[in-house]
Amino acid sequence: MLKSRKSKTIIIIIVAIFIGMQAFRPNIKAETRKENLNLPTDVANIIKKDCYDCHSNETNLRWYDQIQPAFSLVANHIIEGRKALNFSYWDTLSADAQKNTLYLAVNQVILGAMPLESYKKFHTDAIPSEQEIAILKKYLIQISPTKISDSAVVNNANEKFNKWMNGNITFNNKVKPAANGIEYINGFQQWKVIAITDRFDNNSLRVIYGNDIAVNAIKSGNINPWPDGTIFAKAAWKSLVDKDENVSPGEFWQVELMIKDQKKWAATDGWGWARWRGTDLKPYGAKASFTTECMNCHQPMKDNDFVFTLPFQLKNKQILK
Ligand code: HEC
Ligand code: HEC
Repeated sequence: MLKSRKSKTIIIIIVAIFIGMQAFRPNIKAETRKENLNLPTDVANIIKKDCYDCHSNETNLRWYDQIQPAFSLVANHIIEGRKALNFSYWDTLSADAQKNTLYLAVNQVILGAMPLESYKKFHTDAIPSEQEIAILKKYLIQISPTKISDSAVVNNANEKFNKWMNGNITFNNKVKPAANGIEYINGFQQWKVIAITDRFDNNSLRVIYGNDIAVNAIKSGNINPWPDGTIFAKAAWKSLVDKDENVSPGEFWQVELMIKDQKKWAATDGWGWARWRGTDLKPYGAKASFTTECMNCHQPMKDNDFVFTLPFQLKNKQILK
């Protein structure tokens, strides 16, 4: 008897706490803004369905999201999500910024990083389907003008590219260090290629190289976090398209480095970032704070130690067997 009265009391206390918790609600109210997504209806509809809950002022919470403690978690995602990207202010971005943001957004979806994993579990309707991803990709390609180059230009560029890949192009060794003191690394083209990506929206091709420490870390699965001493180098070329729509590398565009050192680069997410632009390898950014741009864009990959190129992609590469 006594026992059951005790458990009743406990239940009453739990219910009281539960009801009490409902009173604590983080404020997620935001101003109402006029609809301003200047995108085709099918593209806009996908973004509204899958992203608006966290990336717009028009959050549509389901009843189960409204109950504490779930609400605090969701509210935190909404507040952080709006800070990172808010489609309600789409009209305040320049055309270029809109295009870049869209690429970043579609990229996050393709990589499976967005919508957030915890959210997808309870909102299965907000998981973009293959078909929806295809619609997003197609739209990006459509708004990215492609210029057709004649075969002489393509051949010439290919020859230069092959020379580079074989390590036969060396830049003059007076390349200036980046503003945060990171030195250019000559000859990184001799490292293992761990990924080649084609950025479909702005016509560029990228080759990502890893040093021995990176390659060994991949082999042993020791990549989160990546060990100190890991270096990634990413080289990018503008791409050329011939009349048969074959894509090949054109003008050399830039080299970027990410150097892992948990202590030395603690203030920049444990990575030293550097970028050199153009065939004369001019350091990018006058002040060391140029790295903010790098970190902001790599931020969504924070659960992957800020690295985009994913382990399963790396493991599938023949060269690393
Ligand atoms: C449940 C909430 C939630 C949903 C739904 C969601 N996101 Fe996010 N998103 C976030 C949060 C939180 C961040 C902040 C970065 C972080 O901590 O990961 C973010 C960051 C981003 C960023 C990075 C912005 C930057 O400048 O670094 C992009 C791009 C993005 N989301 C795209 C999308 C897209 C596209 C969708 C829909 C397919 C989507 N998100 C759906 C919560 C969400
Ligand atoms: C607009 C977003 C964006 C910005 C800004 C950005 N990156 Fe990246 N970065 C990417 C993406 C996406 C990848 C994945 C490979 C690809 O698609 O090119 C990547 C890949 C890399 C890689 C290869 C390792 C990896 O994460 O896969 C390096 C190295 C790199 N970036 C360095 C930098 C440096 C240095 C800066 C700043 C000077 C920078 N990035 C700024 C988006 C960005």
